[in-house]
Amino acid sequence: MLNIKQVTKVYSNQKKAVDALDLEIKQGEIFGFIGPNGAGKTTTLKMITGIIAPTSGEITIDGHSIRTDAVAAKRSFTFVPDHPEIYDAIKGIDYLNFIADMYDVSKEVRKERIEKFTKQFQIDDALTQPVNSYSHGMRQKLMICGALLPKPKMFILDEPHVGLDPHSAKVLKDLMKEHCEEGGTVLFSSHVLEVVENLCDRVAIIHKGKLIALGTPEEIKQDRTVTLEDIFLEMTKDE
Ligand SMILES: Nc1ncnc2c1ncn2[C@@H]1O[C@H](COP(=O)(O)OP(=O)(O)OP(=O)(O)O)[C@@H](O)[C@H]1O
Ligand SMILES: [Mg+2]
Repeated sequence: MLNIKQVTKVYSNQKKAVDALDLEIKQGEIFGFIGPNGAGKTTTLKMITGIIAPTSGEITIDGHSIRTDAVAAKRSFTFVPDHPEIYDAIKGIDYLNFIADMYDVSKEVRKERIEKFTKQFQIDDALTQPVNSYSHGMRQKLMICGALLPKPKMFILDEPHVGLDPHSAKVLKDLMKEHCEEGGTVLFSSHVLEVVENLCDRVAIIHKGKLIALGTPEEIKQDRTVTLEDIFLEMTKDE
């Protein structure tokens, strides 16, 4: 579903944020991308979604290169960035209808899905209010609802659990599972190791731009009797 080959990003200040990253994400899996602050998670997700270009390397989504076939690649995923920035003079419902229009979601399907997602996230009552009256968490939930609306093949989220209360975090977790059960793929970055451990089919740990571990949470733990958190802290501690 997603293929990342030898991807490197060097920013204009010569900072190498991602270093020869190879990663393959299969259809139907929930994939957790974890690493400490500054590890290169957001940079990687921005390259996958075509927001920034890699310095070198190739990325394909659903068989389409994000560089040479960007429109087709972009049809196959939706992305929730770490900062929920929405034109905030519009109402929540107008934002969702805008997304549904862009992705050609029929009137009946959008009605049913908007109702379902916004009720689960308890923002249904706020939909007729302008987004500038929403709290940070409400904006984030509105963006997640929008990103789920087109039922994308791949659902990509950067640090989605930051800023969500426990109820909303559980709703998101259930929606991710449901998305995969229906044949979709989920990729998200996180610091919340319990979420990753209990939710993900596979996990990659990135540190200083390099992949340092990849596998199921069980494989990463192997037969060590420690938590993923212990391994994460051990692997990413500064020498
Ligand atoms: N636009 C930029 N210009 C220069 N350096 C950048 C830029 N954006 C990020 N970096 C650097 O690249 C490295 C990776 O940053 P990135 O935002 O990808 O990390 P992250 O894993 O998402 O961290 P966090 O957990 O804090 O969100 C950091 O050292 C950061 O300072
Ligand atoms: Mg980040």
